[in-house]
Amino acid sequence: MLAEIPKVEELVQKAKNEYSRIFGSVPTIAACAPGRVNLIGEHTDYNDGFVLPMALPLVTVVVGSENGTNVCEVTTLAQVENEDNRVKFDLPSADNNLKPGNPQWANYVKGVVANFEGELKGFNMTICSSVPLGGGVSSSASVEVATFTFLECLTSTTAKPKDKALICQRAEHEFAGMPCGIMDQFISTMGKENHALLIDCMSLKSHLIPIKNEDIIFLITNSNVKHKLSGSEYPQRRAQCQNAATLLGESSLRSVELHELDALRNLKVDKGTINRAEHVISEIKRTLEAATALQENDFKKLGKLINESHNSLRDLFEVSCPELDSLVDIVRGCDGVLGSRMVGGGFGGCTITLVHQNSVDKVMESITEKYAGTPTFYICKPSNGARVLSLQ
Ligand code: GLA
Repeated sequence: MLAEIPKVEELVQKAKNEYSRIFGSVPTIAACAPGRVNLIGEHTDYNDGFVLPMALPLVTVVVGSENGTNVCEVTTLAQVENEDNRVKFDLPSADNNLKPGNPQWANYVKGVVANFEGELKGFNMTICSSVPLGGGVSSSASVEVATFTFLECLTSTTAKPKDKALICQRAEHEFAGMPCGIMDQFISTMGKENHALLIDCMSLKSHLIPIKNEDIIFLITNSNVKHKLSGSEYPQRRAQCQNAATLLGESSLRSVELHELDALRNLKVDKGTINRAEHVISEIKRTLEAATALQENDFKKLGKLINESHNSLRDLFEVSCPELDSLVDIVRGCDGVLGSRMVGGGFGGCTITLVHQNSVDKVMESITEKYAGTPTFYICKPSNGARVLSLQ
């Protein structure tokens, strides 16, 4: 099914209606932040490498107002299974640290509130999002960055975009227990319409690359298999990469060359660790090549690199799953497809497929016919990062 992407104004309207129903007043602040899809550079951000994401037109909208107390009350319109969709917590103070807890969805909000540097005031807030939950397109970062943008309005302060991303990343580490890299929060903050963003995750410098070719579609296919990244797999991969770098006397895999992995082989380091390092080193190289290809409008080359990325994530990094592999295999056999791969942390979520405009319907038909699960499709243009919205 091709999902309709709601307009931001529609999400604001929904959130406003719900806010008024719950809190009996009208909100004075509205902000939004997008999810993201990563063209290439997967599991490279926490290795000081490069990533090449773009922001999506799928966004989290938050609306709310100061409430004159020291309490924050937040509601969500998301379908949260077995959890309350309303939460109340005190603002952090000298003798009261904010802690993560239940409902889990609220931890992203609490984490940002706890780490926000500014004179906070109690507030009421309602969340309404079009970013699919657990789809590997950064629904959590979009909640964090939207919340941060809301708090900037509430306190009349503005953080530097880089600091904003870092604080939201800290919120995720501390309140969701997910030791993520910087990519998601960075692109959600700094994405730009019609551009991908090459981010150097070591220096945190970034470079916008225009996406000019109107004939190429970015088709996102949700496998609708839900992953749980804060499970053991993500931290385990991260630790393996760090271990490989440390054994080679480096602080990260960024500066390691493929041939240097022979030293690990000689040390009889386990194959899994060597494979992880091989993925990261080759993926960093691919990401830089992909950025050049995009710059030169060479989508054929970009597609080839995207295919290689998937193979490496599947065989060396081992974060794919049968459903994602099946989606990728199906489209690789279709006319007009330049490349396809899984995106995000892995073990479920979405794939991205680069496909010529006139072939996209056929591609969706093939998937619907051959994929064993129920896919959802999104056709997405690179969109803007976080912003304050009008409530008029
Ligand atoms: C998750 C993390 C990111 C990144 C990707 C894998 O989305 O939040 O920081 O590590 O996985 O590339």
